[in-house]
Amino acid sequence: MKGIGVLLSGGGTNLQAIIDGIEKGEIPGKINLVISNRANAYGLVRAENSGISTCYLNRKEYADTKAFHQAMLDQLKAHDVEYIVLAGYLSILSPGLVEHYRNRIINIHPSLIPAFCGMGFYGQKVHQAVLDYGAKLTGATVHFVDEGADTGPIIMQKAVEVQADDTAESLGSRVLKVEHELLPKAVALLVQDKLKVLGRRVIIEE
Ligand code: GRF
Repeated sequence: MKGIGVLLSGGGTNLQAIIDGIEKGEIPGKINLVISNRANAYGLVRAENSGISTCYLNRKEYADTKAFHQAMLDQLKAHDVEYIVLAGYLSILSPGLVEHYRNRIINIHPSLIPAFCGMGFYGQKVHQAVLDYGAKLTGATVHFVDEGADTGPIIMQKAVEVQADDTAESLGSRVLKVEHELLPKAVALLVQDKLKVLGRRVIIEE
C-alpha cells in the first residue's frame, strides 16, 4: 500500500473524505501519518478515531522554518510517507520539502485557481472575496504544490454557482461538498501514478 501523509491545521473534513475513500476501497493507499501545526486541530481527533498515527509540530519550538520542515521531513520519512496531501494546511512548505516530494504533494483550495488564491486567501476569506467581487462562479481546485502559494499545476477543478442570497458561510459549505468529492478522486489517481505533469498541464491517465 502506498503511504500517504496528510498535513492539516483545522477541522479535517477533507481528511475524513480521504479516510472514507480508503475505507470504501476507492483509494489504494494508507494514511501513515497526519501532521498538524495546530495543537487543537480537530483533524487530529479524526485521525486518532481511525487509528492513524498523529504528530503535532509546533513551529515555535524550532529555531527557524528550515529546522521546522526538517523535523517534518524526518517524521514523514520515519512513517514511509510517499505522497503528501495538504488538507486545510494553513502554511507554506519550505523549498527543500517541496523538492524532496516534487510532484508528490497535492493541495485542495476552495476557489477556481487562479482566482481568489495565494497569500491571505484561506478559509472564509476566500468565499467573502468571491462575494465582494460579485463573481457568479467559484468552485474547488486540487493542484500540485510547488514553491509558491497555490501556484502549482492544476489537477482537477469543479465549479459552484454563486447564489444571490449567499453568505460566505453558505457558499463555503457548498464548495466544501465539492472539495470532498474532488480530493479523494485526486488522491486515488495520485497514489496510482496516473497524474503526469507536463509543464503546467496535468494529464490524467485513466
Ligand atoms: C478547506 O476549505 C480547504 O480547501 C482549505 O481549508 C479548508 C479545510 O477544511 N484549504 P477541513 O479542515 O478539511 O474541514
